Amino acid sequence: MKTQVAIIGAGPAGLLLGHLLRAEGIHCILIERQSGEYVLSRIRAGFLEPVTTDLMARLGLDARMKAQGQLHDGFNIADGERLIRIDLAALTGRRMTVYGQTELTRDLMEAAPERGLEIIYEAADVTLHDVASDAPFVTFTAEGREQRIDAAFIAGCDGFHGVARPSMPASRTQPFEKIYPFGWLGILADVPPCNHEAIYANHERGFALASMRSATRSRYYIQVPLDEALEDWPDERLWDELAIRLGPQVAPHITRGPALEKSIAPLRSFVFEPMRAGRLMLAGDAAHIVPPTGAKGLNLAASDVFYLSSALTAYFKANDSDAIADYSRRALARVWKAERFSWQLTMLLHRFPNTSAFDRRIQMAELDYIATSETMRMAIAENYVGLPL
Ligand code: APR
Ligand code: PHB
Repeated sequence: MKTQVAIIGAGPAGLLLGHLLRAEGIHCILIERQSGEYVLSRIRAGFLEPVTTDLMARLGLDARMKAQGQLHDGFNIADGERLIRIDLAALTGRRMTVYGQTELTRDLMEAAPERGLEIIYEAADVTLHDVASDAPFVTFTAEGREQRIDAAFIAGCDGFHGVARPSMPASRTQPFEKIYPFGWLGILADVPPCNHEAIYANHERGFALASMRSATRSRYYIQVPLDEALEDWPDERLWDELAIRLGPQVAPHITRGPALEKSIAPLRSFVFEPMRAGRLMLAGDAAHIVPPTGAKGLNLAASDVFYLSSALTAYFKANDSDAIADYSRRALARVWKAERFSWQLTMLLHRFPNTSAFDRRIQMAELDYIATSETMRMAIAENYVGLPL
C-alpha cells in the first residue's frame, strides 16, 4: 500500500491529524495497535481549550460537543480556608469546554468512514523503517497477514509507550524528565458534581481535585504515595478523605456514590527533543507528558497536530518544506510553556514527602498572592485557557 502520510496511533492526536489532512485532500492511513472499542474504553480528562474546540469546529465535527459539552467560565483553588476563583472569562474572554476525551475520540472515529479516513485496527508488530530517507515505510501484521505501507511522511501519534519515539536516532535526540514522588488516585461516579466548576485543593494531607464529566457524572482525585495499594481505598474511605481535603465549605455538597472506576496514575513531566527526525514527526503523548494538574495533555496534542497538519499541507499543496523543517521548534515552544505551567501548578498544590515548614509557608504565601493579585490570577488564567498558537 502507498499513502502520503502514515499515522501511527488512533488516539486523539492521530485521529485529529488524520481528519485535518483529509480536509485538505491529503491521503493518509492510521495504524492502531488496539481495537476501536479498546481505544474508547480509556478514561481520560476532558477539559478542552478553545484551541482544541476550534479545531473540532473547523472540521465540522463539533455538533455533539456543542450540545453536550459544558462551558466553564472559571475554576477554583482551595487553600484550606477559602475558594480562590480564577475567572477565566473575565480575565481572558475565553472559556473551557468540559467534554470527555472519550466522547471527542468517538466523534472523530465515527466520522472517519464518511471522510475517507482509513483506520487499520489491531495492527501487531508495527515497525518503522528508513525514517531518515525520502522513502520511509511501515510494516505490521493485521488480518492475519504481513503488510507494508510506503509513505512520504510518518506521523508518530502512538502515545508515550509507542514505537515512533524509540525509532528516532538516539544520537540526535534528548529526553527531559521529571518524576513526582506521588500519584493521583481517581474515582469516577454517577453522582452530580459538588460544584459547577473544578476545585483544585491544597490541603495539609495532600492535594485533592473535584472535577466532572457532565451534570450527572463526577470525577475526583486525591494525591497518594506512589506505592499506595488500591485495595486500601474502599469507596467510603476515599469519600471521607475527599471531604476533609476539599474543606468544610465544599464537603456538604459532595454526593457519594459507588465507583464506576478507580485507579492510581503516576505524575510525570517529559519532553523529547527534537520532535522530528527526517521524515518522522512526533505529536501528542509520543513526544511529551505533563502531570494532569493543568489539564494540558489532550490540548497539547491538539496544538502539535495543528502545527503538523499545516506543515504537511504546505508541503503537499505548495511544495514548501520550510514548515516541516520548523515543525519541532514551533511545537516545542508551546509545549515547554505548558510543561512549565503544569509543573508550577503541581508544585504549588501538592504535599511533597520532604516538604519542610518553610516550603509549606512559601506555598501558602503564593496562594495568598494569587488570591489578592489580579496579575497573578491573569497569569494562571491565560495559561489555563491555553496560550495562543
Ligand atoms: N502501534 C500502533 N499504535 C500504537 C502503538 C503501536 N506500537 N503503541 C500505541 N499505539 C496507540 C495506542 O493504542 C493509542 O490508541 O496509539 C494511541 C495513542 O493515543 P494516546 O495515548 O491517547 O495519545 P495521544 O493521541 O497523543 O493523546 C494525547 O491527551 O489527555 C491526554 O494523555 C492523554 O491520551 C492522551 C493525550
Ligand atoms: C478530570 O476531570 O479528569 C481532570 C480535570 C482537570 C484536571 C485533571 C483531570 O486538571
